[in-house]
Amino acid sequence: MEKLLITGAGGQLGSELTLALAETYGENSVLATDVNPAAEKILKGIPFRPLDVMDARSIAMLVEKEKVTQIYHLAAILSAVGEKQPLKAWSLNMDSLLSVLELAREKKLSKVYWPSSIAVFGPNTPSHQTPQNCIQDPRTVYGISKQAGEKWCEYYFLKHGVDVRSLRYPGLIGYKSLPGGGTTDYAVEIYHKALEGKTFTCFLKKDTLLPMMYMPDAIKATLALMEAPKNQIRIRSAYNVSAMSITPEQVYQSIREHLPEFNILYEQDYRQAIADGWPRSIDDRNARDHWGWRPSYDLPKMTQDMLSHLPNYFPHLYEQPH
Ligand code: SER
Repeated sequence: MEKLLITGAGGQLGSELTLALAETYGENSVLATDVNPAAEKILKGIPFRPLDVMDARSIAMLVEKEKVTQIYHLAAILSAVGEKQPLKAWSLNMDSLLSVLELAREKKLSKVYWPSSIAVFGPNTPSHQTPQNCIQDPRTVYGISKQAGEKWCEYYFLKHGVDVRSLRYPGLIGYKSLPGGGTTDYAVEIYHKALEGKTFTCFLKKDTLLPMMYMPDAIKATLALMEAPKNQIRIRSAYNVSAMSITPEQVYQSIREHLPEFNILYEQDYRQAIADGWPRSIDDRNARDHWGWRPSYDLPKMTQDMLSHLPNYFPHLYEQPH
């Protein structure tokens, strides 16, 4: 029987992927972990242990004790927070990945999942329909760690046969977690502000076009990648995946279709430079051809879904005055 260990289970991706994995494979096949013990609360009874991924020995002990066969290693520091603590971001993002890959090699784990990002690209990358293989010159510590991490994943596959798989996610937007320190997280926060009836101050310029994906699509892509037969996975660094390319102004206008009173201000900060180095759109034909990737959500569909689910998910934030 397979047993899946998830790190960073309380994070932006983890809080949704953990629930989806438990639903797909059964609660007892999943062991959720996070450095923050409070993560247990959002995981709805899924088996949970506190775990600091910087502590390689504790990961190894848990794998041994719980007979773990697969690791979904999601814990990481994202782009904007990483620029505030570059050395910490580097060591957390890199050392923990190397611990997981080593463990996978030693214990012959059946599969490893590790997320990469559009942050592996940079200002000299072709920015429209960015190809799978092209110049990567990341300018953030987060991006450098993802670029190096992709190469380590490929190395462990080629050298040691570790079945490690990865996706280069665009900005992810979902309603089950609060913004988590990423540059693309304006597109999460904007929905919260709209529902709170407040003006949203956007830290990116109104016409900053970035690739984004609604969380159900990200989960669908991850499950499809991990379920695909081994011989269909022909890229062992990380696959480009894409769903939509949108600007803050377009997100704002799509919300105004539902909440016409909503206001926005634009005050760019250091995150604009990060966004300016990232692609505008992504060519994901390999993911489509190799394992059948197709996104389901565009901007209007995502906005409608976000606005209908957010108040139920964070009811304490949106209580109406009596
Ligand atoms: N969403 C991430 C960030 O903005 C990019 O992978 O940091």
